[in-house]
Amino acid sequence: MNAPAAPIGPPMWLLAEVTYRCPLHCVFCYNPVDFARHEDELSTDDWLRVLHEGRELGAVQCGFSGGEPLLRDDLEVLIAEARRLGYYTNLITSGVGLTEARLDAFKAAGLDHIQLSFQDSSREINDFLTHTRTFELKQRVGEMIKARGWPMVMNVVIHRLNIEHIGRIIEMADALGAEYLELANAQYYSWALLNRDQLMPSREQLRRAEAVTDEWKARLAERMRILFVVPDYHEGKPKKCMNGWGNVFLTVTPDGTAQPCHTARMLPGLDFPNVQEHSLRHVWFESEGFNHYRGTGWMKEPCASCEDKEKDYGGCRCQAYLLAADPDAADPVCPKSPHHEHVAAALEQAETAAPSTKPLIFRDPKESRRLCGQD
Ligand code: FES
Repeated sequence: MNAPAAPIGPPMWLLAEVTYRCPLHCVFCYNPVDFARHEDELSTDDWLRVLHEGRELGAVQCGFSGGEPLLRDDLEVLIAEARRLGYYTNLITSGVGLTEARLDAFKAAGLDHIQLSFQDSSREINDFLTHTRTFELKQRVGEMIKARGWPMVMNVVIHRLNIEHIGRIIEMADALGAEYLELANAQYYSWALLNRDQLMPSREQLRRAEAVTDEWKARLAERMRILFVVPDYHEGKPKKCMNGWGNVFLTVTPDGTAQPCHTARMLPGLDFPNVQEHSLRHVWFESEGFNHYRGTGWMKEPCASCEDKEKDYGGCRCQAYLLAADPDAADPVCPKSPHHEHVAAALEQAETAAPSTKPLIFRDPKESRRLCGQD
């Protein structure tokens, strides 16, 4: 194991991925492709203990996500306990299953913040991308959230199939009274990587979308903050993934496996502890999984001698593994990476005018089992 470079501070964020169950089937879902292998879920008591231990460690923000966290019928209990412990609480949801009664219960539990995801400004694309009929329902949920005085925080994943609608997406957010809109270009992991040929926009599409967003930013500056997140493939710079490995985020997956990001479990040769067997203190400070890629000591060339190594920490370990089959490699989005050709080829493919004719793969437990050879 490599020694971490600096003393380890506490996690800021505890991310509770309370379930992988989800009524939607998004083609860009960040859940691991093999999520169906991990169907077990922690009990309410286990989650309550995790919340408690996370707060003792020093975490100040707690995000409830999934899958769709609303499918846990103990969510109110978990939110209330998180709030009682002093966390700032955040629910990350598609809104499917959110009723007036449930929202009232979340309000009573003290929930601070709801992030509602939308797929598009049109019913056709929303319903197509999620394989559901949920467009109107999401609009209603937006109104219900707003009516209870929460800030309206919307998130839309941007890709080739909706990037041309960006102006209408911003208009829709404005009509719903959004105070904050995150236009997050798809990151190509998990399901989005499977569908990358169909989802990745061309440079010109991206340039236009950014220009339209800038116009709207100026027009709505008084009432909405808009964040446009450029895909790292196009930026040509590795990102400081998760703000540094084991630096800010501690993610607990539905079955209790603790990881520094959503998908680290797939990395070969690493062992990630389960919170049913280990305390969060052990997980964060002692475990091999959390220590392995902390700091810069693990790096090989070209990262080891790179002047930016303290800025980007070599980029994303999961992306290095997915694209270069080597989790120790420089993130292939970096032009200095010996594996950069994988990213260059994907970008080149996205420049072709004709859309890919490959069928999209929708996130679904059956598909997950097929893809990991269980069917
Ligand atoms: Fe796992 Fe970037 S997503 S390190």
